[in-house]
Amino acid sequence: MDSLTTAPVADVLTRLFNEAKAADQKLYEQYAGGSSFDDESVTRLLEESKDYKKRYKALAGNFLNISAEFGQFLYICARTCQARRVVEFGTSFGISTIYLATALKDGGGGQLIGTELEPAKAQRAQENLAAADLADLVDIRVGDALETLRDGVGGVVDLVLLDGAIGLDLPVLRLLEPHLRRGALVIAENAIGESTEYLNYVRDPNNGYRSLPLPFEKGHGNEMSVFIR
Ligand SMILES: C[S@@+](CC[C@H](N)C(=O)[O-])C[C@H]1O[C@@H](n2cnc3c(N)ncnc32)[C@H](O)[C@@H]1O
Repeated sequence: MDSLTTAPVADVLTRLFNEAKAADQKLYEQYAGGSSFDDESVTRLLEESKDYKKRYKALAGNFLNISAEFGQFLYICARTCQARRVVEFGTSFGISTIYLATALKDGGGGQLIGTELEPAKAQRAQENLAAADLADLVDIRVGDALETLRDGVGGVVDLVLLDGAIGLDLPVLRLLEPHLRRGALVIAENAIGESTEYLNYVRDPNNGYRSLPLPFEKGHGNEMSVFIR
């Protein structure tokens, strides 16, 4: 049995998904019913995200979390690549963090470096990780990831989740690139817009990745890339 399906992780995830549904329902109704992003929503989101500090301050009460399906996918990826060090851009209240930290724990240990712009969210994530008995595996860096990841992450990175401000995936990836191990997985959520700089970059083999859109939650911009340089 893995730790995702047993207490305390399973109970904390159930509570958090319920809280997230209540907090975010109205927001998702504004974006095509929450099922996928249409062209108009993508344009609006990209425009709003230019001032990402303002945008995410306004969204400080929202979870904006990954789905349970995506979380299980992250868990499987981290177990498959036997991840020891994971970096997450965009921790929010810690839902994705819990899936990834559980994979580290079940795989024998490791470290997850989370990043969160909003201090109150980082605090709540810390509490949620403690409730899931995962706090010792996670270091959440509070502030702009473009600053907090600038001086490295303490070693070689096996897996990266990019789920922070829309539009910052590429600059964050470029900061982490010197630390990626050969074969590292880079998974982006919300890499929306087919012609973003991020997708152009990871889909160009000259940059050292093999990349493809994930077949579930189509329209959400889920992209998986492997670093093979
Ligand atoms: C989509 S949510 C992350 C959801 C989270 N991964 C989950 O599944 O629960 C994006 C988060 O990234 C944070 N964020 C946005 N820009 C950031 C930045 N430059 N540095 C650090 N965090 C950032 C936002 O405050 C927000 O909480």
